[in-house]
Amino acid sequence: MTDQVQSNDPAGNILPVTFTLRDGRTCTIRLMIEDDAAELCDVFPKTHVESDFLNWLPGEFQMTVEEERRFLRDTLACQPSIGLVVVVDGCIIAMGGAHANPRKRYKHHSEFGLTVLKAFWGMGIGRKIMETLDDWGRSAGLHKATLCVFHDNAGAIALYRSMDFIDQGRLVDHALRADGTYGDVIMMAKFYERI
Ligand SMILES: CC(C)(COP(=O)(O)OP(=O)(O)OC[C@H]1O[C@@H](n2cnc3c(N)ncnc32)[C@H](O)[C@@H]1OP(=O)(O)O)[C@@H](O)C(=O)NCCC(=O)NCCS
Repeated sequence: MTDQVQSNDPAGNILPVTFTLRDGRTCTIRLMIEDDAAELCDVFPKTHVESDFLNWLPGEFQMTVEEERRFLRDTLACQPSIGLVVVVDGCIIAMGGAHANPRKRYKHHSEFGLTVLKAFWGMGIGRKIMETLDDWGRSAGLHKATLCVFHDNAGAIALYRSMDFIDQGRLVDHALRADGTYGDVIMMAKFYERI
């Protein structure tokens, strides 16, 4: 992939980053905005059908566009947080973000998350989202980035480990699977000041 980083503003807000996918298409990562609400309400539930490794079971996500718009407004205003979308041919095909706990006791860390539509897996988009979140985490002055991942989500775990996330513990039978069984979840974290 060829990077063409356009700009980062001094406050660390990430502006559009454009790069070329392995199949030659151009892809852009930009900040999520409230006006993405309608498209997110369409794309996000698709990812829950395509993957059993996310926080929603298929069909569970039922937000209206107005509710999603309000959620985006409230969540993105809660610092340190960021929302990202990845756009190909004018359509959102992946999302990522970092969400803070607003309490002073926990504001030094933020939880990372991401999902890519299946048709685009293995093309370098997940890594690009994680690198963008990582750059943002540094510039936002995070002490710690956290995330939770199913213990058998080998692709995601390989990605996170390659970016210096380490295991913090295993939550046994923590999340319900689509097949009715419970899956273990690994908590991972990256400590910026220790690198
Ligand atoms: C996990 C996910 C985000 C990865 O995104 P992606 O765009 O497919 O990943 P990339 O192509 O950028 O690959 C990045 C790295 O992930 C790892 N990886 C990706 N797919 C893999 C697979 N099938 N097996 C092993 N490792 C894999 C590799 O380490 C790869 O490293 P490389 O850059 O040296 O090739 C994506 O597959 C996805 O959305 N899955 C469903 C939802 C999900 O699991 N989200 C994460 C919840 S914690």
